[in-house]
Amino acid sequence: MKRVLVATGGGDCPGLNAVIRAIVKRAKREREWEVVGSIQSFDGILREPTEIIILDDKAVAGIHVQGGTIIGTTNKGGPFAWPYKEKDGTWSAVDRSDEMIRKLQYLGVDAVISIGGDGSQKISQALHQKGLNIIGVPKTIDNDLSATDFTFGFQTAVQIATEAVDKLVTTASSHNRVLVLEVMGRNAGWIALNAAIAGGAEVCLIPEIPYDIYKVMDKLNSRYNKGKGNAIVVIAEGATQKDGNLTIGKNDEVGYENIRLGGVSHKLVHDLKTIGFDADMRVTVLGHLQRGGIPIAYDRILATQFGVKAFEMVLEGRYGEMVAYRHPKIISVPFSEAVDKPNFVDPSGDLIKTAKGIGINFGD
Ligand code: F6P
Repeated sequence: MKRVLVATGGGDCPGLNAVIRAIVKRAKREREWEVVGSIQSFDGILREPTEIIILDDKAVAGIHVQGGTIIGTTNKGGPFAWPYKEKDGTWSAVDRSDEMIRKLQYLGVDAVISIGGDGSQKISQALHQKGLNIIGVPKTIDNDLSATDFTFGFQTAVQIATEAVDKLVTTASSHNRVLVLEVMGRNAGWIALNAAIAGGAEVCLIPEIPYDIYKVMDKLNSRYNKGKGNAIVVIAEGATQKDGNLTIGKNDEVGYENIRLGGVSHKLVHDLKTIGFDADMRVTVLGHLQRGGIPIAYDRILATQFGVKAFEMVLEGRYGEMVAYRHPKIISVPFSEAVDKPNFVDPSGDLIKTAKGIGINFGD
């Protein structure tokens, strides 16, 4: 029997289980392949005792409907920066990548499929450069990978954010309030922009278009109409004022790989009050609701396509490459291309033109 090991890394995202299921189902058709999963990304390989589980038909039955990942994930550490506690109590990072590759050989693993976002793809690229037979599958609700038209999980997050806008509209109009919805997306405004259009927000603030607070106030004043109107603002967690800085949340987790964003909606309300905008305002931070629950049909299908393609890439020996969707095809691209540049909203692109065309204000 040959063995392919699957790992899910970085923040979870609806559709991960559908990828795992598709890999297992496609592998079963080849008969001589066994699929195993490493618990919590590559941690399962590096831990003692090893935490690796068999992924067979029974393990994956019906999981395409489930959110999260049945093999767990982490966005801390990784084989190149394993958190290590020094004698003085401080933490440092240790490179355990060689040890991990040796362990994979010992475990009889012929190929690895790593499902993850930009951080995970960079790790996969470095492992491939060390000789590991590894294939990448892109995932993130942020949709910020440029090699693929879409990542699975993104449309589900947009759906959840849109439903939040729909709900906020009814209460905003009952109370004549300005309601601000903060959504995820890191440095990309895709979730905010799509939810603002689909939900019908008046203002949308995204990282790609730094905003002028006075322009936001003007738009809100025109809608708020001295307490007789209402308005919805959708703000991406990575949005900034012109010449402003990111709003960073607290992060005291050892080995956490990213800057944690959060709180920009509160800052916006504070700043609007400071410049004299006199309205009832409330904030909703949607947070991890955007990553939880069942994937919508679109994401299940895309995830299934990615899973089948990933295993077929194993059969073809296309190591060092990542699955990607380029309409209408599912293709593969080298890791170097996959991690080359992020996918940001184009401020002069068609989606922004559409949003502006229906009167959404970006504070620019
Ligand atoms: O990258 C996905 C994402 O959900 C971002 O949108 C968000 O900034 C971040 O992960 C949150 O990470 P965590 O789950 O570690 O709080």
